[in-house]
Amino acid sequence: MSRIAYVNGQYRDLRDATVHIEDRGYQFSDGVYEVCEVRGGRIVDLPKHVARLQRSLGELRIDMPMSPQVLKIVIHETVRRNRVTYGIIYLQITRGVAHRDHAFPVNPVKPSIVITAKNLSYAKNQATAARGIGVITVPENRWPRVDIKSVALLPNVLAKQQAREQGAYEAWFVDHDGFVTEGASSNAWIITKEGAVVTRSAESGILAGVTRKVLLDVIASLQMKFEERPFTPQEAYGAAEAFVTASSQIVMPVVTIDGKSIGTGVPGPLALKLREQFHGFSAFS
Ligand code: PDD
Repeated sequence: MSRIAYVNGQYRDLRDATVHIEDRGYQFSDGVYEVCEVRGGRIVDLPKHVARLQRSLGELRIDMPMSPQVLKIVIHETVRRNRVTYGIIYLQITRGVAHRDHAFPVNPVKPSIVITAKNLSYAKNQATAARGIGVITVPENRWPRVDIKSVALLPNVLAKQQAREQGAYEAWFVDHDGFVTEGASSNAWIITKEGAVVTRSAESGILAGVTRKVLLDVIASLQMKFEERPFTPQEAYGAAEAFVTASSQIVMPVVTIDGKSIGTGVPGPLALKLREQFHGFSAFS
């Protein structure tokens, strides 16, 4: 079955789905994106993703190309046309097409929008969670506005590649004060030996993850101890458990950091419990 992409008002076969070479997303990374999980053909926590999308666009002064209601219809149609039951949708909006000039186009242009949807292997994702993943730490070298979900991801790309080359799956950025900020494509968490779940505040240094937000409800309802504060790699090495969160992975246990085993060296029971409970707290649409 060929895949279908929504591009600026049309559903196109992926092979024919194109954007202009003077799109500002292509030339300047002048755009934003969202990734949502699809489960049972439904979108997980779509309103939260749309709210973050609107915020990211607002920060960059890019207009929403359609209303949230219409966007929802188009997302569902893209999922339907691609027959996605379990997988992800990818949505990207850029400032649009204009002759290359760093400043915004003088005459307003229409933002470009692309939406794709693809099936992923649920079994593979579950197997990864059962094994756990390895993480390396790298110096933070991103711009301070990581709260904007911008498509400008070069530091993240390079960090992720470094992780892969070192046999790990994710890279955690460490800021100038020696604290972990977040992963190249996920938020970072540890669970202390005292059973407290720890993650950094979303006020600075990280993207406010939708998975992170929903997981806070799971943690509260399970009456687990929670500490919103930064942690160092050294504290993480000595933690009982560690994990990352992202829409494409939900709660993914971490079993090594910089080659050091975390806890017992296998996915921790609390991380697995949080993973198991997660979808009871997310909204499906
Ligand atoms: N990444 N931090 C960064 C830098 C991310 O790229 C992501 C998501 C997250 C987690 O956000 P959320 O829980 O809303 O997915 C945190 C997506 C999945 C990606 O780039 O593919």
